[in-house]
Amino acid sequence: MKNIRVIEHPLIKRDISILRDRRTSSEDFRIVLRRLTSLMVFEVTRDLRMVTREIETPLAKTEGYVGADQVILVPVLRAGLGMVEAYLSLIPDARVGHIGLYRDETTLKPVDYYAKFPPNLSKSVVIVVDPMLATGGSASAALSYLKKKEAVNIRLSCVVAAPEGVSLLEKEHPDVKIYAAVLDQRLNENGYILPGLGDAGDRIFGTL
Ligand code: PRP
Ligand code: URA
Repeated sequence: MKNIRVIEHPLIKRDISILRDRRTSSEDFRIVLRRLTSLMVFEVTRDLRMVTREIETPLAKTEGYVGADQVILVPVLRAGLGMVEAYLSLIPDARVGHIGLYRDETTLKPVDYYAKFPPNLSKSVVIVVDPMLATGGSASAALSYLKKKEAVNIRLSCVVAAPEGVSLLEKEHPDVKIYAAVLDQRLNENGYILPGLGDAGDRIFGTL
């Protein structure tokens, strides 16, 4: 498992525990998912490039920095929507593409229903956001789709990853680095992550 970076921090561990707890309401789930995502953005974007520019403080001239990379966020609908605002509050000039996928409940294969991206995918740092990496089918389909649209610099920001999904992405998209808050044990017979946090989309949007 060399492509995954698990971001460890006491505040992240606390928030994962709140998300896992079945008693957490949808309202709190959204708040905590957003907060947890904010804690992760720092690491996911650590290698973004900067350019220098001269600025004047009230006292002197000095060197300042601005971002050199255009960032495109791509939430995988629906659950990825729960992470977008956290990214946008820290990278306000990021643009947002959307990809709609759901897992067929019997085959567990992803079914796509929507895609809309900003231009210049090929020149941007693309961050795919989806809280759950289970079999990896949805993430792999999203990544293939983005590559077909000529994205080359892509990373995946999730919350809970399963070893099965990490292995699939390492095989099918070895160039894509995965960032997660936790690497869980395994999938159950229905393709849900154990111990996991249940169905992320349902918990975010109250469709349980
Ligand atoms: C969830 C999740 C991922 C996918 C992960 O979405 O948000 O997109 O499952 O599973 P996989 O790795 O096995 O593909 P879901 O299909 O439940 O759709 P939703 O977000 O609309 O609820
Ligand atoms: N999708 C989810 O939302 N949760 C899981 O555990 C697996 C797939």
